[in-house]
Amino acid sequence: MNVLGIESSCDETGVALVTALGTGVPQLRAQALHSQADMHEAYGGVVPELASRDHIRRVLPLARQVLREAGMTLGQVDLVAYTRGPGLAGALLVGAGVAVALGTALQRPAYGVHHLEGHLLSPFLAEDAPEFPFVALLVSGGHTQLMRVDGVGRYALLGETVDDAAGEAFDKSAKLLGLGYPGGPALARLAAFGNAEAFELPRPLLHSGNLDFSFAGLKTAVMTRLRKLGPDVCEQPRADLAAATQQAIVDVLVAKALKALQLTGLRRLVVAGGVGANALLRETLDRRAARIGARVHYPPPALCTDNGAMIALAAALRWQRGLLVPETDAAFDVRPRWALEDVTVP
Ligand code: KG4
Ligand code: ZN
Repeated sequence: MNVLGIESSCDETGVALVTALGTGVPQLRAQALHSQADMHEAYGGVVPELASRDHIRRVLPLARQVLREAGMTLGQVDLVAYTRGPGLAGALLVGAGVAVALGTALQRPAYGVHHLEGHLLSPFLAEDAPEFPFVALLVSGGHTQLMRVDGVGRYALLGETVDDAAGEAFDKSAKLLGLGYPGGPALARLAAFGNAEAFELPRPLLHSGNLDFSFAGLKTAVMTRLRKLGPDVCEQPRADLAAATQQAIVDVLVAKALKALQLTGLRRLVVAGGVGANALLRETLDRRAARIGARVHYPPPALCTDNGAMIALAAALRWQRGLLVPETDAAFDVRPRWALEDVTVP
C-alpha cells in the first residue's frame, strides 16, 4: 500500500510517500518540503492569502520530486492522504483539492487526515518508535494538548490550553523582542546567550491541579518587562528575557506532562509538534522523565514541524487497522475544530 501524503495547513507545503507492508510500521520512501517562512517574514507572520497561492505553486512539483526520489510513478499510488484540518481554510483547500483531484483521476481514494493526528503519530517514523499506550504532549503553533493514546484512533483529551498555544507564546514573545518569524527557533537561539533567572516570569496554571495550560499572560508579562526596559534595550537584557520566557514555557510543559504520566500511570511520553524541536524542552523532559523511570519519544527532528510524511503515515496506520472510515464517521476524539467541515471524500 503506497500512500501519498499532502500537508498544506499553514506555511509549509509537504509531500511524502509512505509504504505500508502487512502490519509493520509503514516506511517513509521519500519526502519533500517547501517552507514559506522567508516569504512571510516580511509581514511578521503568516499571510493566509499568500500561503494558499504558494501552496498551489509548490504542491505538484513537490509531488513529482517525491515520486522521482521514491522511484515510483503516480500509477503506483494506492491512496492519497491530505490534511483536512485544522488550519488556514484557503491553504487546506489547496491540499484537499489536489488530493481529491489526484484520487479521482487515479480512481484511488483520497483520505482527509486530522493535522494533529499526523503530529501525534509522527514519532512512529523515528528509529525508536513508541509502543501504545502513551501520553502525548502536542505542542504546535496553534495547539497545546495532553492526550492519552491507547492506539491509532483511540485518543482521550487530558488537558489543553485555555488560550494561547505554547508555540504562540514563543512566536508572540519573539515578535515583542523584535525577532523574526517563526519566533520559536529565533527566541531559542537568542535565549542561548541569556540568563533565565534574570527575570521572574509567571508560570500560568502551574499549580492548577488539572492538565490545562494558559500562556496568554506570559506574553503580557514579556510586554510589561520590555516596556520597563525602554526602547533602547541592549542585547544582554533581551537575551535574558528570551531565556526567561523559554524557561517559563518549558517549566509548565514539563510539569504538566509529568503530571499526566503520574495521573495515567503510564511510563511513555510522546512529544510532537513544532515546539517539540526545542532543545531545552527535550533536555529537561529527558532528564526529569528518566528520574521517574519514564521514556520520552520524539519524531525525527526534521519531522517535528509540519510535513507530508506524518500525514501519509497517519493514513497508512489507519489503513492497516481498517480505520479508514468516511470522514463524517471518523472516531477521532480530540474535539476537532475543523476549519473545513465540508471537504468530503469522493
Ligand atoms: O507544528 P508546527 O510546525 O505548526 C503548527 O501546526 O502550528 O509548529 C510551529 C510552531 C511555531 O510556533 C514555532 O515557533 C514553534 O513551533 N517552534 C519552536 C521551535 N521550532 C519550532 N518553538 C520553540 N523552539 C523551537 N526550536
Ligand atoms: Zn502542525
